[in-house]
Amino acid sequence: MYSKEQIIAQILTGKPNGVQLEKGAVYAPANIALCKYWGKRDSILNLPMTSSLSISLAQKGSHFAFEVVDEKTDCLNLNGQSIDAQHDFYQRLFSFISLFRHNGEPRLNIAITSTIPIAAGLASSASGFASVVKGLNELYGWQLSCSELSLLARLGSGSACRSLWDGFVEWQHGSRDDGMDSIGIPLEYKWPQLRIGLLLASSDKKSISSREAMAITKQSSSLYHLWPEQVATDLAMIKSALAEKDFIALGHASERNAIAMHATMLKAKPAISYSNAKTAAWVQQVWQLRVDNMPIYFTQDAGPNLKLLFLEDSTDDILQLFPEVEIIQPFLIEA
Ligand code: PMV
Repeated sequence: MYSKEQIIAQILTGKPNGVQLEKGAVYAPANIALCKYWGKRDSILNLPMTSSLSISLAQKGSHFAFEVVDEKTDCLNLNGQSIDAQHDFYQRLFSFISLFRHNGEPRLNIAITSTIPIAAGLASSASGFASVVKGLNELYGWQLSCSELSLLARLGSGSACRSLWDGFVEWQHGSRDDGMDSIGIPLEYKWPQLRIGLLLASSDKKSISSREAMAITKQSSSLYHLWPEQVATDLAMIKSALAEKDFIALGHASERNAIAMHATMLKAKPAISYSNAKTAAWVQQVWQLRVDNMPIYFTQDAGPNLKLLFLEDSTDDILQLFPEVEIIQPFLIEA
């Protein structure tokens, strides 16, 4: 078993370790997994049991601004609000950043502006940690590649290793104990007509963290032994659907994968459910729309919110049927 510090030392060997830039700002997009990561083979390094595949959300993500300060403590501002040092988020963020600092130096003022609800299962930890490692890369002038930053981001949150790129990204699970081959790989496929509809069922903090829920599921769900095979099937189908631009195949495989993940959690002891009444009603609505021949699918992460998958030409219908939806164009990427 390796520690995070050992892995970081391996990646940063020969890189500068003093401040190169006193002030800077970076951005990383959120990502939604079409084939999910659920369960770790190493919970320190966030090494997954299986590979996964995501789509990044372009302008939905985390803006991260840093400034070196001559103070005794760090300051954190989240979406315009000052965050207390006792807060979970403050502690998680600075304990990660401290892996890269020497005796807590340099002290930092950090401002994170998230364009998605934090901790509502909308992958904000993914864009958050990806933006942190991009910020540290600027601060220290490491000049790391996106692949190296992906390895570092994974140490903060597994799914963050997919948020270093726009578009489709596969996280290959890898087999090495040090995780050096467990990394995000950007995929070539472009699909400008693809749309993601965000349906917010609640922006409250999730009832149980994904870290805890994964561990309980892996340990106690009688369905977990089926998960790796499910992922292998769904991942192959999703990749061939992307290659052939077959939306129905993409939608089916993505929705089936999300349902399998949540079913596996329901069989954990104790059972874990992230859905609420709104989630359940939207799922029924999507299924009914498909009976009525509308090409619409959903996926759901570790929270009650639903993400609709559809194509550009369904946009008007979707806006009418789901007035509260927020539509993302993953390939509308601002320069
Ligand atoms: O990286 P974490 O610990 O936030 O876990 C992400 C888990 C899911 O969002 C449910 C699936 C995924 O692959 O993003």
